[in-house]
Amino acid sequence: MLEKRDDDSGIYEMINDDLARITLMVLGLMAAFIYVWKMGFRISNHIRRLASFSNEGQRYFVLPHETLSFLKNHVIYAPLFRTRHNREFQLSRAVNMGTLPSRFHAFILLGIIAMNVVVCVVTVPYKKEENTLAGIIRNRTGTMATVNLIPLVLLAGRNNPLIKLLEVPFDTYNLIHRWLARIVVFETLAHVFAWAIPKSQKIGWSGVGKALGHSNFLLVGLIATCAFVGLMVHSPSPIRHAFYETFLHLHIIMAAVSFGFLWVHLNGLPAQTYLLVAVIFWALERTARLVILLYRNCGRKSTTALVEALPGDAMRITLKMARPWSFQPGQHIYLYIPTVGLWSSHPFSVGWSESEDLITDEKGLPVTRQDVLGTKHTTLSLLVRRRTGFTDKLFRQAEASTSGRLTLRAFAEGPYGSIHSMDSYGTVLLFAGGVGITHQVPFVRHLVQGYADGTVAARRVTLVWIIQSPEHLEWIRPWMTSILAMDRRRDILRITLFVTRPRNTKEIQSPSSTVQMFPGRPNIDTIIGMEVENQVGAMGVLVCGGGGLSDDVRRVCRKRQYKTQVDYIEESFTW
Ligand SMILES: Cc1cc2nc3c(=O)[nH]c(=O)nc-3n(C[C@H](O)[C@H](O)[C@H](O)COP(=O)(O)OP(=O)(O)OC[C@H]3O[C@@H](n4cnc5c(N)ncnc54)[C@H](O)[C@@H]3O)c2cc1C
Ligand SMILES: *[C@@H]1O[C@H](CO)[C@@H](O)[C@H](O)[C@H]1NC(C)=O
Repeated sequence: MLEKRDDDSGIYEMINDDLARITLMVLGLMAAFIYVWKMGFRISNHIRRLASFSNEGQRYFVLPHETLSFLKNHVIYAPLFRTRHNREFQLSRAVNMGTLPSRFHAFILLGIIAMNVVVCVVTVPYKKEENTLAGIIRNRTGTMATVNLIPLVLLAGRNNPLIKLLEVPFDTYNLIHRWLARIVVFETLAHVFAWAIPKSQKIGWSGVGKALGHSNFLLVGLIATCAFVGLMVHSPSPIRHAFYETFLHLHIIMAAVSFGFLWVHLNGLPAQTYLLVAVIFWALERTARLVILLYRNCGRKSTTALVEALPGDAMRITLKMARPWSFQPGQHIYLYIPTVGLWSSHPFSVGWSESEDLITDEKGLPVTRQDVLGTKHTTLSLLVRRRTGFTDKLFRQAEASTSGRLTLRAFAEGPYGSIHSMDSYGTVLLFAGGVGITHQVPFVRHLVQGYADGTVAARRVTLVWIIQSPEHLEWIRPWMTSILAMDRRRDILRITLFVTRPRNTKEIQSPSSTVQMFPGRPNIDTIIGMEVENQVGAMGVLVCGGGGLSDDVRRVCRKRQYKTQVDYIEESFTW
């Protein structure tokens, strides 16, 4: 610790602090830029919606904007390389190597990496004597590793306010979170080596070991470094996806350990403030979760879940909420069922919701509506596919119970998501693969209702659902029955079902001209081509299904960019 203090060291510490602030500012400016960009779209979408109430007005919106089409084709919707983005790289069915970032995401990540490299190497006086030089690099990389923890923690939270503000989904922030973390680990290692290498040249590696043993400051720093490296080592996609629950708990524990030791390491240094800010962000996020959870589920009544096992390894879960809840299409909740998984919460899209007035009092006697005004009773329904963890346990419990139904105490946290509205598109095309239908049903319902009420631009809504077997139709039967009975539904909604593995062709029957069923896989090119030919207003394409389906639809939407106005939006059910 007894280093010869260079006279300039004060200046370099000031520069470090400035550079750290500049880094935060640049990230903030990036967010501000995206805010303005999205605001432009929000305003133009709103104007489009208002201008679309007359059918004639919609003709204008069919035509694309050339520059925007170019950007959408080559930057915004484009995968990094040819067509692959959401389809996972799999070594085998069990080992999932993750996905490639999109071109636009890659741009942003490269920008962040480049900025960090620049900040770590600028204003370093390379001509100085070796020892001072190493000291400056060491202090710079240490400061940068700490300051990057602020955005890293902020972006990892499900209550990150930037999700709503910038209309950027959690998946994207999660991607940036992972890259920031990698940057932090590299900076931490650079910081450690900038100390250890000059030291070893002076007193040998055994001396380095001894120095570590004798200084608390160095030792806690080393432990924090090990924890950071450990966090990186246990986080790659195959491990994360294979043991998600274990991963998550371990991740939180290791993050807490590393932050704790880093706090001691930074005691009294200016960089401690950055760590403090990061910890405050983390605490605020956790508090927000708890408050939401208590607010939603604990009132005079508590939330219960009715779980029904369905054919084809799926469940319908109907949550009777403790409090009224106004729900929007595209939103998801986190579900907690303590008796099935004590510490875990799982995200699920809300497929259906009902708000009904209570018409009986506690004794089961009917009361007048006036009496119960305000005590609305909301149910939210989920469609859940059985996987191998929590969902598997729940499915088995439901299956084992009499009549395949089970009522459990549950907690729902939300709402989250719902960052894209489809209200301004004259033509809406919804693609769903399997259980992805649960994300699309609320949009169908909302648009058909909006059409009948005259509040949305939609004039053509087409739902394309790809299922493996006709028995999967059972998943959404009650919801579909309600939708098919809606006012003026026939004027606007067409449903096309594709059954990829029918047992025999007799199963495949088209119930009516607006609901059609086909065997095999859809030809996305043909389907979108047909919509383009009959397009009213701007077209919005929303996909929720496997990565392969998303990539196919994206490819076709990009191809169509220059001829008509097509927006492509996806939800992948994974991160
Ligand atoms: C925004 C969003 C909406 C979703 N909506 C639905 C839906 O409506 N219906 C549906 O069936 N599924 C939905 N999913 C997927 C669903 O969350 C997972 O299938 C479920 O959590 C798996 O639980 P498990 O313990 O059985 O998983 P496992 O079999 O242990 O793991 C399967 C995969 O699920 C993912 N996963 C597991 N636990 C979590 C978790 N706590 N948080 C996030 N991902 C996890 C992991 O990627 C893992 O690879 C959605 C996912 C997201 C991100
Ligand atoms: C590095 O930071 C430490 C702690 O703030 C300080 O004592 C030292 O002088 C700094 N070294 C240089 C070269 O700036």
